[in-house]
Amino acid sequence: MADKPDLSLLAERALELIPNNSVVGLGTGSAATAFIHALGARVKAGGLSVRGIPTSDVSDTLAKQLGIPIIKFEDVEHIDVCFDGADEVDPNGDLVKGWGGALLREKVVAGYAKKFVVLVGPEKLVPVLGTRDKVPVEVVPFALTPCIRHLTRMGFVVTPREKGDGLYITDNGNYILDCKTGPIRDPHGTDIAISAIPGVAGTGLFVKRAHVIMIQDGTNIDVRKGSAA
Ligand code: A5P
Repeated sequence: MADKPDLSLLAERALELIPNNSVVGLGTGSAATAFIHALGARVKAGGLSVRGIPTSDVSDTLAKQLGIPIIKFEDVEHIDVCFDGADEVDPNGDLVKGWGGALLREKVVAGYAKKFVVLVGPEKLVPVLGTRDKVPVEVVPFALTPCIRHLTRMGFVVTPREKGDGLYITDNGNYILDCKTGPIRDPHGTDIAISAIPGVAGTGLFVKRAHVIMIQDGTNIDVRKGSAA
């Protein structure tokens, strides 16, 4: 797989969207990692007071290492703004996420945020979702086999995600089924249909979730509306 682009410039620019004394959702993946580093540096410099809610154990560990105060859902009533990467962004600003395996917590944190900001390079822009590769679907272990059968009957090519000698296990103790869908003409309907399968905990389709899409291409940064704006 090609190296991910350096999105540190984009991460710096994203900091401008954070109000002081706010609660910030911290995504997962290379773009989110660049953002967490930029945020940690700003917090350390004393320029910004925030509390973070991470979308994965990896981002939780990184944020703590960088000195970003971390809180839990029970500590707050709302999240002001969430920053995360994406694997595909279509012209409406709908997304595929979860190639890094953190889709469920990412959807929860983004879903409870007043504003969800997506940070990507131009390689993530697609004419239609499903173009680059797969849609990940998180399933509870008890329902692995029926979920594979159901998704296969829907026409997807389903591959349980593996790690080492076994199946990949998410931070929630679940499995991931990577589904080759081909071009998805109706992302909302597809998300509803997959989410309705008993045993599915969440899909990587983020439809009408993103408020802002920020794209870094070289040193140029383009800011667009997401489908939830
Ligand atoms: C993690 O589960 C994913 O949803 C990532 O947010 C997404 O894959 C983008 O990751 P990169 O910024 O590493 O491409």
